[in-house]
Amino acid sequence: MRRGAIVALISIALVVAGITTSIAYFVDWLPEQASEERQGMDLVFWVTVGICIFVFAIVASVSIYAGVKFRVRPDDESDGPPIHGHTGVEIAWTAVPTILVTIIAVLSAVVLAQNDSPKGDPLRVEVLAQQYAWQFTYPEQGGIKATSLYLPIDRSTKLVLTARDVLHSFWVPEFGQKQDAVPGIVTTILITPTKTGEYRLICTELCGLGHALMRTRAIVLSQGDFDVWVDDQRKAAAPPPGGEIDAKGIFTANCAACHTLSKAGTSGQVGPNLDELSLGAERVEQQIRNGGGGMPPFEGQLTDEQINALVQYLTGSNG
Ligand code: CUA
Repeated sequence: MRRGAIVALISIALVVAGITTSIAYFVDWLPEQASEERQGMDLVFWVTVGICIFVFAIVASVSIYAGVKFRVRPDDESDGPPIHGHTGVEIAWTAVPTILVTIIAVLSAVVLAQNDSPKGDPLRVEVLAQQYAWQFTYPEQGGIKATSLYLPIDRSTKLVLTARDVLHSFWVPEFGQKQDAVPGIVTTILITPTKTGEYRLICTELCGLGHALMRTRAIVLSQGDFDVWVDDQRKAAAPPPGGEIDAKGIFTANCAACHTLSKAGTSGQVGPNLDELSLGAERVEQQIRNGGGGMPPFEGQLTDEQINALVQYLTGSNG
């Protein structure tokens, strides 16, 4: 090959690599990094992007050079020369991609293994996904339940996921880790938050009409604030002896994501607007216990006392 051709090919490749590298570098592509696991995942991402830029620069360079240099003149009707192939080039374009893909595979396997091994003693949180809400249970904190995911900073949390009805998938972009919630089996992931704050927690598996609304928040607190939150939740869950069950609290914790009810100040759009619905106590209790029409059953989720309080709250005049 002529020296001039090699210089031209390399120059085009460098310009293409320069432009694509600037686009990769100067645009803020990824969400804020808020977990330890994201560090390894971002490394895999950027190594893969680097490999893609390398391959793209070579392909673009050869395409642009060949397109300009060997383009057909308007009056040229002749056939091209009968070239059979080039063994050296074929070996190169088989071997080099094989090596690059192997690098990505090995690096991914290392990061996956790393992200699957807990650092220290992880906090355990059970995640229940159902159309179209999330529920988080803290078995080591007296079984408190929440509809937002509260996590202490700088401690691994092991999420134990399952689903009640169909496939769902847990994702907080800032944490990176993503895992399916599947009916009948239990899946797990580890998250080690590194920044306090509120992040969106979304279902990322199409699970029905309310899929787009199946979102809540992940809230990362300092260990001290997390302990305060746990204490508050335990007090709220166990009303003082002789005290009343907080029906409005039960409603906002379990029903707010799907139902609008002005006296509870909720505005969910997934299920029927309860301001416009008037059903008898028996019908309401049956619906809460057994679910149906897209609503999950709450039998076993709530105690009988809680269900009775909720029925009272929804059908009675008190509230
Ligand atoms: Cu649950 Cu999409």
